[in-house]
Amino acid sequence: MPEINVSALGLDYAGKTAIDDITFTAREGEFLTLLGPSGCGKTTTLMSIAGLAQPSRGVITCGEDVLFDSTRSIDRPPERRNCGVVFQSYAIWPHMSVADNVAYPLRLRKVGKAEIARRVGEVLEMVDLAALAERYPHQLSGGQQQRVALARAITYGPGVLLLDEPLSNLDAKLREQARTWLKEFQSSVGLTTVFVTHDQDEALALSDRIIVMNDGHIEQVGAPEEIYSRPNSPFVASFLGSANLLAGTVIESGRDSTRVRLDGSGQTVAVREPGPDREVLVMVRPEDVEIIDDTTGDESASLQGNLTTRMFVGSSFRYVVDCGGQQLSVSSRERWEPGPVRLRFRIEGVRLFPRSAADQLATDIEEPVHA
Ligand SMILES: Nc1ncnc2c1ncn2[C@@H]1O[C@H](COP(=O)(O)OP(=O)(O)O)[C@@H](O)[C@H]1O
Ligand SMILES: [Mg+2]
Repeated sequence: MPEINVSALGLDYAGKTAIDDITFTAREGEFLTLLGPSGCGKTTTLMSIAGLAQPSRGVITCGEDVLFDSTRSIDRPPERRNCGVVFQSYAIWPHMSVADNVAYPLRLRKVGKAEIARRVGEVLEMVDLAALAERYPHQLSGGQQQRVALARAITYGPGVLLLDEPLSNLDAKLREQARTWLKEFQSSVGLTTVFVTHDQDEALALSDRIIVMNDGHIEQVGAPEEIYSRPNSPFVASFLGSANLLAGTVIESGRDSTRVRLDGSGQTVAVREPGPDREVLVMVRPEDVEIIDDTTGDESASLQGNLTTRMFVGSSFRYVVDCGGQQLSVSSRERWEPGPVRLRFRIEGVRLFPRSAADQLATDIEEPVHA
């Protein structure tokens, strides 16, 4: 399967930049996800690869083929790009049976009848819909309709699959099933896949690598575990999972040990990395904070706080602990009562960001309004 290279891609709509300087490679057979809040440019990037949006600048290649190059005026039409595309809205034909929907791209390409029948049978087998070939879309569940769209996208054997929020119209339970199914499907067919979502759980669960996008540019690229445990900005930290970001000031700085005094309570925390600036944000995830008994007297390695809220979330409790006006979210399987507590941070999980990096926080995350 071919590799896709996107280099310095930019697209302006009527003078307003939608994406800028987008550079990445989707490796052979890789499941690569573009993740970010609504409006950050995911669809624009994907449609540029598909040939359904025209970039203002940059180069896109697929294997040896140059699909787009602004300086050489190359812009290959979508039907000659070897990409199967699935949109959020499925866009399958309501008046055609499952088999006819899947056969459609082959009929367009004037493939012979016998070959169409063979290929449709094969593809429906791959997406677990062989038994439903004669049904019409309204006789299918949302998940099954989505698989028809996927079957139609791969029926002519593209090397690349481009998926724009394909699961987001399904309800929560179906979406989880569809996610598992898609993961198994993609790894068995080995198609190079670029997947778009604003759903961080989906991105973490499905991807070989994730590209986190924000406001038209790339924030970070890496394997899910890597981005989750080592986010390189407050934006990524708070968009992928939940993160406490505590304002503080560096009071002692070494190469691999820094002491930070937190605003409000004036208490200090130790961090195992250099301070990026004097004014910082201390990042720690809720599962990396431990609540310990206030009476242990172990003041050296812990913070004093006041537990104000407890929420049971099924697998654990979620607590809010106030430390001198800064609220911390803490995840724990143990049951604690409101009142004074001590908190200990798992030091491997603590990161520092310059406070100036907080401008672009992922605060306003909403559902996308279009595909
Ligand atoms: N056809 C269009 N005309 C003008 N602006 C657009 C058009 N499509 C998208 N945009 C703008 O480009 C930006 C990126 O949009 P999009 O790629 O759809 O984001 P996402 O898929 O991440 O939600 C947004 O600001 C959006 O309003
Ligand atoms: Mg979109």
